[in-house]
Amino acid sequence: MAARKQQLAVVLLFLLGGVLSFPLGQDRKDALTCGYEVSYLYSFTALCFGLRGKQQQVAKAAAAAASCHATKPNMLNVHLVPHTHDDVGWLKTVDQYFYGDRNDIQHAGVQYILDSVVDQLLKNPDRRFIYVETAFFYRWWKQQSSSMQQTVRQLVNEGRLEFVNGGWCMSDEATTHYSAVIDQMTMGLRFLNETFGACGRPRVAWHIDPFGHAREHASMFAQMGYDGFFFGRLDYQDRARRMMAKEQELLWRASDSLTPPVADLFTGILPNGYNPPEGFCWDQSCDDPPIRDDPDLEDYNVDDVVKRFMAIAENQALVYKTNHIIMTMGSDFQYENANLWYKNLDKLIRYVNGLQSNSSKVNVLYSTPSCYLQELHRANLTWALKTDDFFPYADSAHDFWTGYFTSRPALKRYERISNSNLQTCNQLEVLGGPVSRKGPFGGGDKKAMAVAQHHDAVSGTEKQHVANDYARKLASGWQHCQVFQSLTEADTSSSVSVLKVVPVSKATQEVRRNRGFAVNELVFQVQAPPLGYSTYSVSLLQDGSPPTSTQHRTPTVIQNKFLKVTFDPDTGLLSTETCPNDRPCVCVCSRYNASDGNNSLSIQPSGAYIFRPNSSTPFPFYSLQPQSSVVQEVRQWFSPWVSQVVRLYADSRALELEWTVGPVPIDDSLGKEVITRLDTSIQTGEYFYTDSNGREMLQRKKDFRPTWQLKQSEPIAGNYYPINSRAFIKDDVDQLTVVTDRSQGGGSIHNGSLEIMLHRRLLYDDVRGVAEPLNETSDIFPEGLVVRGRLLLSLDRPPSAADAHRPLAQEVVLQPLLTFTDGDLNPNTRLEFSGLQAALPPAVHLLTLSQWDKDSVLLRLEHQFQSWESKVNSQPVTVNLQKLFSTLDVLGMSELNLSANQWKDEMKRFDWTPQKGTGRPNLPLTSLQ
Ligand SMILES: *[C@@H]1O[C@H](CO)[C@@H](O)[C@H](O)[C@H]1NC(C)=O
Ligand SMILES: *[C@@H]1O[C@H](CO)[C@@H](O)[C@H](O)[C@H]1NC(C)=O
Ligand SMILES: *[C@@H]1O[C@H](CO)[C@@H](O)[C@H](O)[C@H]1NC(C)=O
Ligand SMILES: *[C@@H]1O[C@H](CO)[C@@H](O)[C@H](O)[C@H]1NC(C)=O
Ligand SMILES: *[C@@H]1O[C@H](CO)[C@@H](O)[C@H](O)[C@H]1NC(C)=O
Ligand SMILES: *[C@@H]1O[C@H](CO)[C@@H](O)[C@H](O)[C@H]1NC(C)=O
Ligand SMILES: [Zn+2]
Repeated sequence: MAARKQQLAVVLLFLLGGVLSFPLGQDRKDALTCGYEVSYLYSFTALCFGLRGKQQQVAKAAAAAASCHATKPNMLNVHLVPHTHDDVGWLKTVDQYFYGDRNDIQHAGVQYILDSVVDQLLKNPDRRFIYVETAFFYRWWKQQSSSMQQTVRQLVNEGRLEFVNGGWCMSDEATTHYSAVIDQMTMGLRFLNETFGACGRPRVAWHIDPFGHAREHASMFAQMGYDGFFFGRLDYQDRARRMMAKEQELLWRASDSLTPPVADLFTGILPNGYNPPEGFCWDQSCDDPPIRDDPDLEDYNVDDVVKRFMAIAENQALVYKTNHIIMTMGSDFQYENANLWYKNLDKLIRYVNGLQSNSSKVNVLYSTPSCYLQELHRANLTWALKTDDFFPYADSAHDFWTGYFTSRPALKRYERISNSNLQTCNQLEVLGGPVSRKGPFGGGDKKAMAVAQHHDAVSGTEKQHVANDYARKLASGWQHCQVFQSLTEADTSSSVSVLKVVPVSKATQEVRRNRGFAVNELVFQVQAPPLGYSTYSVSLLQDGSPPTSTQHRTPTVIQNKFLKVTFDPDTGLLSTETCPNDRPCVCVCSRYNASDGNNSLSIQPSGAYIFRPNSSTPFPFYSLQPQSSVVQEVRQWFSPWVSQVVRLYADSRALELEWTVGPVPIDDSLGKEVITRLDTSIQTGEYFYTDSNGREMLQRKKDFRPTWQLKQSEPIAGNYYPINSRAFIKDDVDQLTVVTDRSQGGGSIHNGSLEIMLHRRLLYDDVRGVAEPLNETSDIFPEGLVVRGRLLLSLDRPPSAADAHRPLAQEVVLQPLLTFTDGDLNPNTRLEFSGLQAALPPAVHLLTLSQWDKDSVLLRLEHQFQSWESKVNSQPVTVNLQKLFSTLDVLGMSELNLSANQWKDEMKRFDWTPQKGTGRPNLPLTSLQ
């Protein structure tokens, strides 16, 4: 911002996540019912302000389960699950998919699918269908007549139409943050509960398409009350081993901190992705032969169809444990003309079961995932235990889906800031009182964020025009946050702070093009209370322009009391000497040239999904003239399209690397994937650590998978993992943590080294359906997108490192919202405000505070430390909810499941028994002394 005469800036900070201790042990049965122990990482949800009545819905839910078709105990039962996979945006926008617009791109219209399926379900009460994406169902429902709505309610109550998963979308698992995932699930599940009651509550989580599976997602699903989880994609080597060992159905223990079975989730891997068996696709989009059952005709094929079906079923039964198997009868956007499917499925069932009178032992039935799961549960077996996750995903030797961890870095950042803003606005809506209420179902901002969690949205695997649509939706969502203004107007005032004026960097001038002309920026430190704001006023003390560019001679050192950073005069490479014990670490910016598919090993090119460098040695950039400015800041140019600012703030333990990359040149006809690599002398033994959806940390090891013997075929791409908010490497003495400002991919390829992919631009499609090269341009950047971001480097000693990097990561995820106002401050207004009576204990994070309905708010608190990572902060904490807020009185509360669609005391999940001796014991992630 350029300082003008008499200009006044008001900075409003809204900081999340408090930091003070607040003891109180309330018995949850006492009158206040608001004192709760917040156990390890257990997120709980509370409705405050007035106790709500509850209805017993359990009996009804049981009735729906009873609607499952009977099975035969001494036969092989084949559960046919009619389904459609409706992407909430991919090749077309979510709106185009709903209406069936732009069928020239892809023939798909969700409104017709739902029309057609309901019609066909009514024709035969045996038929079943499952529906998944509430973003689409919600739109369709709104357009139905009340008699149609009544009909659909009936189908749901009778278990003929079953909701599975039920979130607003089927979220991506590699590039999403848990906070936004919980919100999108809550939005969809709340709609289902309000519309259908208990019978509309999905019992099964269903992620048939996401490209790898995060442990934190499994943990969330368990805490949302799901009985089981099904998915379609996993590493091809992992699948081969699981088929042999009959371990495609397993028990996932998804947290090392929650006491089992809180985060245990029964997990099933579907037999054929999410497609029907070969030769049995009867959609209008398929070419498989229909069942021709007129014996008078020459092309009668019933015997052939039945024989082929029996063979597939019997083969499938060989790799699963029980006498029940599942077949997904459907695929992408199928059932638009549902008659085709159902007519043939009716016949298939009739003819296959007809053979039972002639001693056949195969029984086929219409089913749903929850009916299938119920049979697995009844089998009362023990199941292999799994404690790691399903990343990275490869579908063959040179095809690792690790590129999308970074694809579309600008969209990934925009999604992350939008979440931060939405959380702030939700809180303001609560604190702002009735004037700020927008009604129970939230605005476009919530829907835009929910849609952005889809596995072809924030993942970066959609077509360019669809990516633009997600960004446009997020942008218009920002405008809903009007409440904010009313609160600020009521409560503003002033404080003074000391400035430094810094000239705007060359990189910034180039990035902004002709948008803005400021030559200086203000840098000063601000602080805000938790769940509150601070106001700062900035005024010019004297006439005249502020000091301009104070160009200093190249320094080789910047330092504060924690860190000393030096720059090599020849290469410009940064190294920190005080990487504690004087062990240097060096930061190198490098790039890989992308494989173009012309390669002796495989024709797979790098693309939106897949990462495949054409050589395993990255090509480093050097900077010859690091320049410093007055702040503790050094600017480096590595090439005309890669630059970095290194900043050290006075009281910070973290070093900030602000990178600017782009437009990535393609004139040599090579795609490029730009990384930053931190090389240290830390003895990592090839171990490193990445977060799972921003929550728990998982241990990784180079060329290694905990549950199978890996044959590594891609030395770089096969060692990449998703990083949502942080990653670290460590030995007994030092730990280097990198906090990211968006989801990115990264790995540790060498001992002591950690690399993070920042940006990628590619010239070939990677043949996974999107049919476009990831070659981002825009009107402002026709020659290629320029992206900027920040990495925070924190150097600590291992036992206490989490105490530093957890809060640091949360601050980056939920960052203060800045607003600016011109003019003089009213001297009577308030400088500072906090919605809390006192800050929360450091271990406790206020994840959600949002208006639920007129009289109640939804509150989520979480214990944010894993059980092993901090001596002090991993301890259980008790919070007194009655004394939490400064401006609100808590009249009562009720506890809900994580997704707020079920009362906690009504949440009852299936029990599953792990097989003895399976799973690995948790590895010693770190030793607490
Ligand atoms: C679910 O919806 C029903 C009405 O359909 C309501 O009575 C119940 O309180 C809701 N449950 C939750 C947890 O909100
Ligand atoms: C019944 O099974 C026998 C022996 O497998 C076979 O020969 C006969 O054709 C079958 N009958 C029918 C109606 O399929
Ligand atoms: C399940 O199996 C265990 C032993 O393996 C047995 O004790 C238990 O009664 C069985 N439960 C049911 C419901 O059959
Ligand atoms: C593939 O590489 C070979 C050898 O490097 C070259 O001769 C050939 O023209 C390339 N083909 C394409 C399609 O780029
Ligand atoms: C990438 O290609 C360029 C030529 O355009 C070459 O100079 C560079 O060495 C290559 N880098 C790697 C890592 O292959
Ligand atoms: C990539 O985008 C540029 C525009 O910046 C365009 O000239 C080029 O043809 C595109 N390449 C591919 C392979 O799409
Ligand atoms: Zn999909």
